Amino acid sequence: MSVESARDVIRRCRVLAGCSDEPGFTTRTFLSDSMRVVLVKLTTWMSAAGMSVSVDAAGNLRGVYQGASADARRLLIGSHLDTVPHAGAFDGVLGVMIGLALVESLHGTRLPFGIEVIGFSEEEGVRFGVPFIGSRAIVGELDKTLLEARDADGVTVAQAIRKFGMDPSRMADARTDANPIGYLEFHIEQGPVLEAAGRPLAVVDRINGRSSADVTFTGAAGHAGTTPMNTRQDAVAGAAEWIGCVEAHAHGTKGLVATTGRIDAAPGAANVIAGRCRVSLDVRHADDRIRVAAIQRFRVAAEEIGARRRLQVDWLPRLDQSTTEMDPQLVAMLARALEAAGAPKTVMASGAGHDAMVLAPHMPAAMLFIRTPGGISHHPAESVDEGDVAMALAAGTNFLNQLAASIGV
Ligand code: GLV
Ligand code: MN
Ligand code: MN
Repeated sequence: MSVESARDVIRRCRVLAGCSDEPGFTTRTFLSDSMRVVLVKLTTWMSAAGMSVSVDAAGNLRGVYQGASADARRLLIGSHLDTVPHAGAFDGVLGVMIGLALVESLHGTRLPFGIEVIGFSEEEGVRFGVPFIGSRAIVGELDKTLLEARDADGVTVAQAIRKFGMDPSRMADARTDANPIGYLEFHIEQGPVLEAAGRPLAVVDRINGRSSADVTFTGAAGHAGTTPMNTRQDAVAGAAEWIGCVEAHAHGTKGLVATTGRIDAAPGAANVIAGRCRVSLDVRHADDRIRVAAIQRFRVAAEEIGARRRLQVDWLPRLDQSTTEMDPQLVAMLARALEAAGAPKTVMASGAGHDAMVLAPHMPAAMLFIRTPGGISHHPAESVDEGDVAMALAAGTNFLNQLAASIGV
């Protein structure tokens, strides 16, 4: 595969970054108008590569490149098309563009297996507070409870799907029925490890587990000038104390990361004591026991702070995802592909969550990481190196060849 293909991949990622819900930034949420524009562009590109393209009931884009025989099993290659607010151009989209470039590089040649390139509609959890809506639909895990989750405007997932033009009652059809050979995801590393090690690519052998919750402290709103300090039930002050506990515990626990990235205070005025404060919590660790223990500890701390400050504490669990192993055979195949592409063998765990962790319990799954300059991600400055993308494409081609050889014609 040529450097030109890598350049094309990067150019397309940048084009899609221009499709945004928010002018001047890349912010693309589940089933938004800008997502519709992305789906149209991708449909054009995929159709030109000889793929049959459809959008399933969960809004996932599915581009199928048939194998040598009509009933050939498929390799799924994918990643997500939604973004965090003020995102970069590569988180998620890069994996879809690499999948497309690999199909294009076949120039119509048929392999003993088909390739389905999937652009997942939702992975980040921004709109509904629940991540992986797209990949959960693919494995039949988008159940009634998830369809009833509401966004900030009170719109349910099911209503949003209907408004986008799909039928949520057809969700079962989104489930992959092709008995896939496996799932392969190319993704930027999103951290500093590969850059520090001077390595362009890595095979992911494990994705760290993750829990998230919304924690709401409710006290009493009041006048900022007249309410004495000792009679206050200040929800923000309680939340702040708790956030300090969360950070301190994560600092003191090797490998634990805990983030309270979103805070909503109400009524939200400089001269009003906040009566309510909702805080998001995201906790991750390679060892599930440490993650689960941390969550329990954070909950007890919130209740203790709430009791002392006369605040009600409501704990809403959002996600509880175990650490997920990638498939050893696909990992080994990918490691050989890396070496064949000229990249030193590098294997690492993923600190970030990925669609691969939802698919892995249902089919063999593997991931390839691409070095992230400066380790910067979930930020407009996110970038990739053209040479690294070219190497990832070469590794992808070698992976397809190995898979073809293992299946035979
Ligand atoms: C996905 O972007 C994550 O938060 O890990
Ligand atoms: Mn992300
Ligand atoms: Mn991602």
